[in-house]
Amino acid sequence: MAVEKVYLNGKYLPAAEASVSIFDRGFTFGDGVYEVIPVYGGRLFRLPHHLARLRYSLAEIRLSVSLNDDEMTLIFKRLLGGGTDDASIYLQITRGSAPRNHAFPDTISPTVLAYAQGIVYPNQRTREAGVAAVSYPDQRWHRCDIKSVSLLANVLARQYAHERDATEAVLFREGFLTEGAASTLFVVHNGQLLTPSLGHSILPGITRKLVLELALKHGLQCQQTDISEQQVKQADELWLSSSTKEILPIVKLDGNPVGEGKPGPYYHQIIKLYDEFKSRFRHGKVS
Ligand code: PDD
Repeated sequence: MAVEKVYLNGKYLPAAEASVSIFDRGFTFGDGVYEVIPVYGGRLFRLPHHLARLRYSLAEIRLSVSLNDDEMTLIFKRLLGGGTDDASIYLQITRGSAPRNHAFPDTISPTVLAYAQGIVYPNQRTREAGVAAVSYPDQRWHRCDIKSVSLLANVLARQYAHERDATEAVLFREGFLTEGAASTLFVVHNGQLLTPSLGHSILPGITRKLVLELALKHGLQCQQTDISEQQVKQADELWLSSSTKEILPIVKLDGNPVGEGKPGPYYHQIIKLYDEFKSRFRHGKVS
């Protein structure tokens, strides 16, 4: 869905009139960070968590921005314009424009871009059918905990999947599962729900955090641990989670059925809890 209005460096502009310098370090070096925030019924989902992760990413790349969390929130709300549709917010902050030189410029004026985009979240049919995925080597850098706009390895992985009619690439590093090209992964193996531990190898997914909270609250144990490629290949269930795909079951991996080749009982349990949480959120009962 087309983006009409954007926020760029203090101004609200029609998308067609917004432009950044060819010397912007986001363009030349991929020197920046971003966030994708789901919006349900016009309300920003898990906003404090997204803002906290943004602050973490900014701190880790040593970029400071004058906007505080309240000011950021106001920008998002203004972009949403009081609408009640489902949407997502994209926010990108780069180290601004400067003559090309790898080291930081002496004076930095970050480029801040944000826009709201209409989105249709996966429907019941997609959830019931599940999606296909393919294995792919994790060729990314060693700071995948930073939500950086340098996404070339993720782009190549997702394109590899796309060319094989798959929704996601499941990434492995040295024989162990990391995450998807743009999602967190969960595995059910021998009756245990598992997900890779946090660290420098994966993004601390906000949806991941909610899945863990819901699982814990409802007595469904989820272990954060190393998961071998073999465990993934023998999984009874495999799911992906992200802000734009919510939680989706992967029913085919590299052309082979995962478990029975259909969404499993653990998935049904978690998606029910997730939908209940979302519904309470839509009605303002949880934040
Ligand atoms: N990506 N891992 C990677 C590499 C991701 O890019 C994403 C999300 C996730 C899931 O994180 P979260 O649950 O906070 O969305 C994990 C977003 C949606 C994107 O790049 O469009």
